Amino acid sequence: MATLFEKVKIGNLELKNRVVMDPMGFSHTDPDGGYSDRQIDYYVERAKGGFGLIYPTATTVTTKFEFAPMPNVLETYSQATRLSILCDKVHQYGAKLCSQLSLGLGRVAFVDPFTPPKSASAVPAFFFPDLICEPFTVDEIKFLIGKFGYSCLLAKNAGADAIEIHAYGGYLIDQFLTPLWNKRTDEYGGSLENRLRILYELRDACWENCGKDFPLFVKLTIDHGIPGGRTLEEGIEMLKVLDDAGFACFHLDLGTYENWYDAVTTVYQKEGNQLYLAEAAKKAGIKTPLLVQGKLGDPKLAEKVVREGIADLIGLGHPALTDAEWANKAKHGRHEDIRPCIGCNECIYANLTNQRFKCAVNPVLGMEKEFALTPAREKLSVLVVGAGPGGIKAAITAAQRGFKVELWEKDYSLGGALRAAGAPDFKEAVAKYLEYLKVQLYKSQVMVRLNKEATPEEILKMKPDAVILACGARPIMPNIPGMEKMTVLEATQLLIDGTCPGQKIVVLGGGLVGCETALFLERQGKEVTIVEQMEALLMTVKHATNNDLAIKKLLQDSQIQQLTKANVTSVDTASVTVNKEGQEMTVPCDTLVIAIGYQSDHSLEAALKGKIPKVFTIGDNVVPAKVIDAVAEGYHTARLLEELEN
Ligand SMILES: Cc1cc2nc3c(=O)[nH]c(=O)nc-3n(C[C@H](O)[C@H](O)[C@H](O)COP(=O)(O)O)c2cc1C
Ligand code: SF4
Repeated sequence: MATLFEKVKIGNLELKNRVVMDPMGFSHTDPDGGYSDRQIDYYVERAKGGFGLIYPTATTVTTKFEFAPMPNVLETYSQATRLSILCDKVHQYGAKLCSQLSLGLGRVAFVDPFTPPKSASAVPAFFFPDLICEPFTVDEIKFLIGKFGYSCLLAKNAGADAIEIHAYGGYLIDQFLTPLWNKRTDEYGGSLENRLRILYELRDACWENCGKDFPLFVKLTIDHGIPGGRTLEEGIEMLKVLDDAGFACFHLDLGTYENWYDAVTTVYQKEGNQLYLAEAAKKAGIKTPLLVQGKLGDPKLAEKVVREGIADLIGLGHPALTDAEWANKAKHGRHEDIRPCIGCNECIYANLTNQRFKCAVNPVLGMEKEFALTPAREKLSVLVVGAGPGGIKAAITAAQRGFKVELWEKDYSLGGALRAAGAPDFKEAVAKYLEYLKVQLYKSQVMVRLNKEATPEEILKMKPDAVILACGARPIMPNIPGMEKMTVLEATQLLIDGTCPGQKIVVLGGGLVGCETALFLERQGKEVTIVEQMEALLMTVKHATNNDLAIKKLLQDSQIQQLTKANVTSVDTASVTVNKEGQEMTVPCDTLVIAIGYQSDHSLEAALKGKIPKVFTIGDNVVPAKVIDAVAEGYHTARLLEELEN
């Protein structure tokens, strides 16, 4: 029976284990698209952390048709030299490197609203549907294939151990493979054989440059999951055709841009959401080894997938971002120390908004060297007030640095806002993160005091050298006439309590908390209406496209009624009055749930400033924000404590 941490041979590629860091891009490249020192540090940390195979991000073979479609480029000697530094460093930890080479984005390019992208055919561009893509000529296709072959040679010479063709996810090569986007009538369009021609030519270009025995992987989407896209049956048929084509591994994937959450998973996807692809392929008798990913961050699940022969290699995307040491921790049974992903996709959001690469739960992501902790220069005593994600992170980090740390929490339980955020069954990942934080806190040297309300007097009596205020924010409660006549609950508390006595519920506020609370209630069999004053739900939420699409899909698939451009103007015993665009309507209900936002309280900070040497406020206590802000502020405040001035 296969195991996760045994040596394995995939084609001619020998790996020390079956744990793969999936390709994940970020844009801190060298100016010419070569791997920067930061990128190298980021990958090397994962090699050091025990991953058997490291995939750098998708790397483009030419910028002739798209300006820097992928963060990295591999078409010059200097770019290849940077890759060779990366390969050397990865190899020093016993890991191997697979270079994922791409022809570009095609119709999913996000250049500008004026320039039609180039694609297989004249189909609408994804981001700007008024733009019709310009089809590649046959000469241009040959040029791309030639460039691909040359990049393969550069990668091999630089020390890459394998190459992968980036042929999945509705990107350019997949646009050739898929009739939905390939309307060509020449030798690259029409029959499956013709549509696969580009893949065979890319394979041949690799073989010509690297030899037939060089391990060549291909990443393929075998179920697009959208109308007109490839169905699972068609995907399996395609694998059968390719099974004897000499590929060392099929890297299977799900979804495309329209349902991006299936490919780049979110908190709302189920664990192992792509496993059925591998199961179907094995069942169909596919002999080529399989690599699969999709929320496999629980090491027990990863081990099970390998033991049951569902897949040969386990791909970890987000889990490799949250914890560079995933593999070593899993190998040594330290499962409780693996920092789980909360599926928020701040990593993607950062990429899409031109910020540096970021992770909500791992503040050093992409800045592995710059943000590393140093031992405390002086043994300061630190009081952290509030045990939400920011407070716990600050306390643990301060203790790791060697400070004497106490953490006060006014509630009987740890977690703050995470307790509510992780309450719905579809937010299990957040609940797991809270469990992780609790364990880490327990293992740390932090003195934790629950049920401990922090007053200025008590803090001044304690005389800490530094106070970090992470008291969170309070829900805003409106003053609507008649509210005393009905059960009125606040969303956060409702989520923590887990129950709502009523049956017909109106949720006031259609932001993230309101929508998730509505879904939570609907899954308990309640009749739910969301009332939102803006013209659509979720308009104020700043999150990644895949998360946005995912929660909107959940809402769309639910029975929840939505009243937008609307407000609750009065409350009665068995109904509320809603004003929607000037029209009054009565909505029968027995419970009103409030989810209209939060406000911070700065009174403690004001009472302490000037009386304690260092007073810092972090997270929602500054201004209501997100987990990523709280965790980062907690980490950096503790990391820089001696240097920071009030
Ligand atoms: C920030 C980020 C960048 C990604 N970039 C790539 C990429 O360059 N090439 C690729 O094949 N997949 C890319 N992916 C997809 C992942 O490799 C992986 O397939 C996906 O996240 C699902 O696996 P997971 O649930 O383990 O995260 C990216 C994902 C993330 C989160
Ligand atoms: S930013 Fe969020 S989704 Fe991305 S890896 Fe970190 S926790 Fe996971």
